[in-house]
Amino acid sequence: MTDYGFDTLIDRTGTWSAKWSLYGPEVLPFWVADMDFRAPPGLLAAVAERLDHGVLGYTRTPPELEAAFIDWLERRFGWTVVADWLVWLPGVVPGLNLAGRAVGGGSLLIPAPVYFPFLAVPGHVGKQGIVVDLVREGGRWVMDQDRFEAAVRPDTGAFLLCNPQNPTGRVYRRDELETLVEFCLRHDMTLVSDEIHCDLLLDPDASHTCVASLTPELRTITLFGPNKSYNIPGLGVGVAVIPDAGLRRAFLRARAGLIAHLSPLAYAAALWAYSERTDWLPSLNGYLRGNRDRLQETVAGLAGVEMTHVEGTYLGWLDVRELGLEDPAGHFERHGLGFSDGARFGGAGFQRFNFGCPRTMLEEGLTRFVVGVRDA
Ligand SMILES: Cc1ncc(COP(=O)(O)O)c(C=O)c1O
Repeated sequence: MTDYGFDTLIDRTGTWSAKWSLYGPEVLPFWVADMDFRAPPGLLAAVAERLDHGVLGYTRTPPELEAAFIDWLERRFGWTVVADWLVWLPGVVPGLNLAGRAVGGGSLLIPAPVYFPFLAVPGHVGKQGIVVDLVREGGRWVMDQDRFEAAVRPDTGAFLLCNPQNPTGRVYRRDELETLVEFCLRHDMTLVSDEIHCDLLLDPDASHTCVASLTPELRTITLFGPNKSYNIPGLGVGVAVIPDAGLRRAFLRARAGLIAHLSPLAYAAALWAYSERTDWLPSLNGYLRGNRDRLQETVAGLAGVEMTHVEGTYLGWLDVRELGLEDPAGHFERHGLGFSDGARFGGAGFQRFNFGCPRTMLEEGLTRFVVGVRDA
């Protein structure tokens, strides 16, 4: 495998990094989901080449990007789509909120814990959120069908799925998704599926299923983007795949006047990402796997902390409730650790640990974590 320098800690001072400017220098940031790695050299070169042209005008979606994305979806996940179904966006989160507006009904079903912008969608779009807890079963976070059946209402217009799941790191199996599809069909719900982490699979035998590929009968909005996999969230690009023409029209109506042209640099990056054939992603996933293993080993040796196996993403979901801390995030911050507090994700008493960083930074974080847990 090529050495992409994942071991190198890059000083991000002076880059206006959200991750590194939230805390002072005494706190190591393991919170927001961006990694401390450079994007792939080929992607950076593609962006630089576009920048070098010097004229950064309003830009249309490159037809070669549509073709590359369609090919990627087919090659990687066996899902055949057409260009008409695609709506390019500056990110997946705007797509989630447009989806919330485009679907019918007065309420949205949301399994939690979940990436916190999901929980904000109902408020943004003037609908009610029905939050249903995921349950831990046999070392995995699963969607409990009985709970969903009990919670769904006649006015529930959509189910908001996150797969691979942030923050638990689950990658749902095909049979779990088939059950979900059947549930959505039976209750006439649209399935909105955020699959932004689909390339970040840490187990060699893990595979990602695009839920929309399971049946053409279900109305679906699936959201993808290269922001996570290639560590370019600051560039901002994503895409919604909406096979149903009526739903797509509603989505475009919701977008009208709010989101227009994407940056040509974002398009250049996306074109490289969806055409890429290098070993960057396998190398990254191998590195992240090593980090995950170190985190899991450390947690396994600590009394009062639990986490489930992370199948995908670069996020660990730490259950620290047994430590009995009144303010877990504040406690770990005093020990030099900036985690995402679980309460925002619908998981009070949990901390989310972003391990997308060089091994030395991770090791320092783990050392501090062990001390923090002993001090609790
Ligand atoms: C599940 C999920 N969706 C969306 C996003 C953000 O996507 P974007 O930056 O494309 O809006 C994240 C970022 O952490 C995420 O984890």
